[in-house]
Amino acid sequence: MNKDLSQLHQYPFEKLAALIKGSQPPQNLEHIALSMGEPQHPAPHFVIDNLIAHMHQLSTYPSTRGKPELREAITTWLSNRFSIKPGLLDPNQHVLPVNGTREGLFAIAQCVLDRQLDDALVFMPNPFYQIYEGAAILAGASPRYLDCLEENQYLPDLDAISDAQWKRCQLIYICSPGNPTGSVMSPPYLRRLIELAQRHDFVIASDECYSEIYFDEDHPPPGLLGVAADMGLHSFSRCLAFHSLSKRSNLPGLRSGFVAGDAEILKNFLNYRTYHGCAMSAPTQTASTAAWGDETHVIENRQRYREKFEQVLALLSDTLAPRKPQAGFYLWASTPIPDIEFARRLYAQQNVTVLPGQYLSRDSGDGNPGVNKVRMALVAPLHQCLEAANRINLLLSTL
Ligand SMILES: Cc1ncc(COP(=O)(O)O)c(C=O)c1O
Repeated sequence: MNKDLSQLHQYPFEKLAALIKGSQPPQNLEHIALSMGEPQHPAPHFVIDNLIAHMHQLSTYPSTRGKPELREAITTWLSNRFSIKPGLLDPNQHVLPVNGTREGLFAIAQCVLDRQLDDALVFMPNPFYQIYEGAAILAGASPRYLDCLEENQYLPDLDAISDAQWKRCQLIYICSPGNPTGSVMSPPYLRRLIELAQRHDFVIASDECYSEIYFDEDHPPPGLLGVAADMGLHSFSRCLAFHSLSKRSNLPGLRSGFVAGDAEILKNFLNYRTYHGCAMSAPTQTASTAAWGDETHVIENRQRYREKFEQVLALLSDTLAPRKPQAGFYLWASTPIPDIEFARRLYAQQNVTVLPGQYLSRDSGDGNPGVNKVRMALVAPLHQCLEAANRINLLLSTL
């Protein structure tokens, strides 16, 4: 067996299942899950209909590069969304479909990391999406955890990293809007990171799968490629952005996303993917083309989250008092008792599951930034999120 497999950490949801195993929550309370970031709003009908209408395409092998129409639709979406001058992004060079960002984020490490170099580091936020860590380990590198703390707006402190450390960095994962913190990287922050990547020669993998869940229609979160284009970095050198239909369009089961950016890396990534055998099925490509071409359902989706955040935050404002995230659909809240105990009691007494913060983070040497935090995903219907908030208040009143 590959020895590196034994270094993989247990997945947060397995830890949660073990934590609550054997607990008997009150039978009269229905279970409400705030633990998983799985969208629960309905998938758009027109995408499902499109998928069904094109099922006959299953009779052909799909192309790994993706159909031209799909790459065109993605390029148009990216250019509009991030105000990138039309023509700068070439659908033939700068875009590849991936089967959800998870798959793409994992695979890119296997493609870009040079195993011949000693001491390769992969930087990632802490807390973080655990795939980054597994991708680094299975590509033969070591993860370096960058704490995301309140005093730094829950973003990695780029100034705290020495030149010697940057030199060892081959790849950095960033996540904006962040899971679980909901922090958004500003254009100056992204510009600084892009400059560091050029100076120290590392690749930025920007996980932007929550970019379409935000509160102010006039202020969408910026993205890596938009900032690169504004800097005049028209080659998008060392910059890769990952997007997905899972959260934007409530299609987590479709397994559809894309990676865009540096043409040279994507040429090699296409080669890697050809061997890996991860072409997106043809009906999925066609349905995804339709999904990227529509914004109406995305605007409606945001409105649903907006309502939930307003009402849930109002209920919790005098008790748990979580900060409103800048974007995304998570609350990252401090707990008055240890996070694991909070999650355990909330399940045992109120039949609500949340994720203990320390299941999403590691001790970086300066402590574990997830300690005494919980992540709550407001994905359930509004009435369930409100009911969960009321039950959290009941638990808090007993502490
Ligand atoms: C930060 C982050 N990145 C990537 C993903 C993967 O999303 P998908 O593979 O569905 O695009 C998730 C899923 O929850 C996530 O939270």
